[in-house]
Amino acid sequence: MCSIRQILAQFLGILILNVHLRFEFDSSINTVMEEISTDRLSRQPDNSSLPRLYMETYGCQMNIADSEIVVSIMQENGYSITQDTDSADIILINTCSVRENAETRIWRRLVDLKRMKKKRPGLLVGIIGCMAERLKEKLVEEERSVDLVVGPDAYRDLPGLITFARSGQKAVNVLLSKEEIYGDIPPIFQDPNKISAFVTIMRGCNNRCSYCVVPQTRGTERSKDPEVILADIDRIYEMGFKEVILIGQNVDSYRWKQNGDKNGYGFSLLLESVAVSQPGLRIRFSTSHPKDMSDTVLHTMAKYPNICRHIHLPVQSGSTRVLSLMNRGYSREWYMDRISAIRTILSDCAVSTDLITGFCTETTDDHQETLTLMKWAGFDFAYMFKYSERSGTKAASKLTDDVPDEIKGQRLSEIIALQNTLSAESKEMDLNTIVEVLVEGISKKSDTDLFGRTSQNKVVVFPKEKHRVGDLVMVKINSCTSATLIGESVL
Ligand code: 5AD
Ligand code: SF4
Repeated sequence: MCSIRQILAQFLGILILNVHLRFEFDSSINTVMEEISTDRLSRQPDNSSLPRLYMETYGCQMNIADSEIVVSIMQENGYSITQDTDSADIILINTCSVRENAETRIWRRLVDLKRMKKKRPGLLVGIIGCMAERLKEKLVEEERSVDLVVGPDAYRDLPGLITFARSGQKAVNVLLSKEEIYGDIPPIFQDPNKISAFVTIMRGCNNRCSYCVVPQTRGTERSKDPEVILADIDRIYEMGFKEVILIGQNVDSYRWKQNGDKNGYGFSLLLESVAVSQPGLRIRFSTSHPKDMSDTVLHTMAKYPNICRHIHLPVQSGSTRVLSLMNRGYSREWYMDRISAIRTILSDCAVSTDLITGFCTETTDDHQETLTLMKWAGFDFAYMFKYSERSGTKAASKLTDDVPDEIKGQRLSEIIALQNTLSAESKEMDLNTIVEVLVEGISKKSDTDLFGRTSQNKVVVFPKEKHRVGDLVMVKINSCTSATLIGESVL
């Protein structure tokens, strides 16, 4: 047993078995959060004698991980998974509420589902996740095509709710929990290439960013027992995965406390335990919060080469005034200090971010501050959004959404244009270097090329030759676009 596990075992008064010590390392996957639908979960064998579930997932990595829990619960209760809506007995849509356009997509999808239900009246349709939590009344009262409405903390009830819905009544459970973490439910990891697996380390959020609906839809923060996390990661390794992504709304506030313990067990210790216990896995994590990201976490990353050199650190705005209205808990200078700490402690670390344009009262000067901060930080990648007012948030009740949509759009175009330049510069820095790439699949553009990611989460395309999906390959970078590095294997 390795030392960190011993420390952890002592700390928790438990014995942790099943340790692997194989030395390899490295990394990848995309962090955040767009309205992407995924069919990761629809690749299960279709066992025709069982009732069939079709699962569709929108939104962030947390939702993908939640869908893996839902599939586990449903399989345990006698359902098989189908990738074909026509053969499904039940369709579950795991939803996102973070911006209005995410919800608009789901409303549109419901029109298709209504049509399907008309043709097959026995079909059950369930809306689960954040939108179920936020719009429960509307979904229950106004959407005749919806049979189930189930919030993120009520997935254990799905089998019972489905039985209830079969009687023709709407089945609803949107209770939020202070404890639910689904620690005893092994997710059914579905990445068909067995490259990356998500491990949820905490759920919910105690921050109150004024624009954000997540604390309402996902409830308060709770952390998963590190023993369970490490056991999940052992299983992931045994299954042949190459990378694990520790996810939570704010990983830096991960904290596990035993009875009477004052400080508990925080994120940097968890990260260290994972890195030591599985040196053959690349380790990633998301999302970090600038107000909470400590130097200790950075030093832990520096110590272990299998922790990928990439941090997703959403800044949202470059203006201290706007950050304060957003209730982010840090200033422009604080954020810059965190970037400087990353550069000092981890010289080869990529940083990505999230940005919102046109938040309430944002002026041209505020917007300019966002642009200058972006240039100063030299972000390697960014997710960029127009502010979208969400009812029930502090911004919706206390502030005025007063930046016209056209201006929001113009500012968004400006930050996207700047980020394209920064992303291109970030790729150019890698020209003529040799990088280690974890191969994720065959390139979409050419089946004689492979694609994968560097530790910094940069996508690399190179000729396949004898290499295979799942290999770690040393690649010399010969050219690039703003999104992709292009090279050839050198070993
Ligand atoms: N409007 C626009 N973007 C938002 N985000 C969260 N809430 C909103 C909103 N109301 C963005 C933030 C966050 C990311 C997940 O989504 O940038 O970091
Ligand atoms: Fe939302 Fe802020 Fe929590 Fe992130 S940290 S989930 S933006 S409230």
